[in-house]
Amino acid sequence: MNDEVISAHRERQQALIEESQTLIAKAQAEARDLTEEEQATVDGNTEEFDRLRADIERRERLHAQAQSLAKVHKRKAEAEPLGGGRDDDGDRPAPGLRAKAPAQPRPAGEAGRGGFTTFPEYVAAVRKAIHIPLAIKVGPYFTSFGHFARRIVDAGADGLVIFNRYIQPDINLETLDFFPNLALSESYESRLSMTWIAMLRGRVGAYLAATGGIHEVADLIKMLLVGADAAMLASAIYRHGPGHFTQLEQGLRDWLVEKDYTSVQQMKGSLSRENCTSPETFERVNYMRSLVAFSGRPI
Ligand SMILES: Cc1cc2nc3c(=O)[nH]c(=O)nc-3n(C[C@H](O)[C@H](O)[C@H](O)COP(=O)(O)O)c2cc1C
Repeated sequence: MNDEVISAHRERQQALIEESQTLIAKAQAEARDLTEEEQATVDGNTEEFDRLRADIERRERLHAQAQSLAKVHKRKAEAEPLGGGRDDDGDRPAPGLRAKAPAQPRPAGEAGRGGFTTFPEYVAAVRKAIHIPLAIKVGPYFTSFGHFARRIVDAGADGLVIFNRYIQPDINLETLDFFPNLALSESYESRLSMTWIAMLRGRVGAYLAATGGIHEVADLIKMLLVGADAAMLASAIYRHGPGHFTQLEQGLRDWLVEKDYTSVQQMKGSLSRENCTSPETFERVNYMRSLVAFSGRPI
């Protein structure tokens, strides 16, 4: 329907151009200026032409948004493993909302702001209120996180941002008061997101974005290997400035070439739990091995 309206607008624009050109050509052939009446028609056409063009642009934007959204919903409905060629099909990124879950510390027994008692309730309310892609940034402090992530997606999230890293206050021992102490992250912290993205990849029908401790190109590559659709950086950019993005991109390109990958898509998710040849690596065996390696003695 939208395509038909756009096409009708385009035909009307073309007709206006031709009408104006005919009048101008006629005046030129007769070697005279446009009469007042002809000039008014040409001016009127210009105005209407601009109006039609603005309307086409607006409709095209809405159309692109609707298409992106339809894609997200189709993928969710099919619950397909994540990452099937979305990066390669030349789509424009959809505008969307990244909401942060209301999981700040609250006194015991008190509901969060907005009166929501559960996180999925909050997501469902936001989903109901908006019609653009919705990503939810979650903290790591939930039991059965895999199950919890599914509930967030079932409530309407199109993407999960894993994980929020709360700025925790500190205590000044001189003034005996709390103060906000911004501590930037370190690379090792990325393992938390990395592990959970590996676990969730292909098991929830949502895009997965990694955040927390991504500093070096190695951190970025690891996130992609376990299946992140996007990687986000805050602390590293505070430390090194925006030029750091270019360095990471170049580092990623170099690594792909070195490893004979022709695209990010080829390697994305290849080390997720689902694709891993020994999924137990993510679980207890890995823990035991770590302990053995650490102490040097078998347990
Ligand atoms: C200075 C600063 C400001 C931030 N502001 C926000 C914010 O407004 N909203 C938000 O969701 N996260 C905010 N964050 C958290 C980051 O988005 C990110 O999740 C977190 O810092 C972990 O990523 P990193 O290790 O790359 O810093 C902020 C982080 C920093 C360092």
